[in-house]
Amino acid sequence: MNRKIIVAANWKMNGDTQLINDMSAALNQLTYKNKQVIVCPAAPYLSQAVSAFSHPDIAVGAQTINDRESGAYTGEISALMLNDLNVQYTILGHSERRTHFGESSALVADKVAEALDKNLTVILCVGETLAQREQGETEAYLTSQLQAVLDKVGIKAFEQMIVAYEPLWAIGTGVSASAAVAQETHEFIRGYLASYDETIANRISILYGGSVNAGNCQELFSQTDIDGALIGGASLKVEEFKNICLAE
Ligand code: PGA
Repeated sequence: MNRKIIVAANWKMNGDTQLINDMSAALNQLTYKNKQVIVCPAAPYLSQAVSAFSHPDIAVGAQTINDRESGAYTGEISALMLNDLNVQYTILGHSERRTHFGESSALVADKVAEALDKNLTVILCVGETLAQREQGETEAYLTSQLQAVLDKVGIKAFEQMIVAYEPLWAIGTGVSASAAVAQETHEFIRGYLASYDETIANRISILYGGSVNAGNCQELFSQTDIDGALIGGASLKVEEFKNICLAE
């Protein structure tokens, strides 16, 4: 299965108009070989990003949405708003949303359903803590995160989804999972989805996230079941992110 490499930038609560200008100027002029780039800036910058990233291989994504269509939910953004702005992707279930904003797997599943209903492509994040890995609970925990979404939207819906495996112990720590550990976990995730539908499991892109940089991306991308990366810190540096986008 020849899956495209996806390089997705998660700017989190960082970045400004200057970064959008600088990043788009750098990325718009590159030639991407069988690659999709997705830039996910903070919500106030989505509109500007859609205009600025004009290259056909670069799309824009949000970092979360509300699970409701509209209404009195101060501060929230909806899938419909993303449709209106021509934003095609949204990250959902990032561990920072789960940890700092109390998003349960059930709520993440509701958000996935709403995003898919509005034809967005979802980047669904899953990942275990260090304690869970040390106690041998990684597979059970990843399964429970995936299961909540499978129960809500069904395996067919995964045709419109990307999975990002992001171990919490690797996010923002400067210590990436080794390529071998990441590959083994991606293989498990793909195998779990294959127990529902082998064709969908073979087609779906599974990204790795957690301290990916220009130095380690190549080895990660060369693993059988790693189809790209979701990148935080290194996606805020123009030269570094450009090099990740160019990695084979
Ligand atoms: P990091 O973040 O690349 O800074 O580790 C990844 C993420 O949280 O998506």
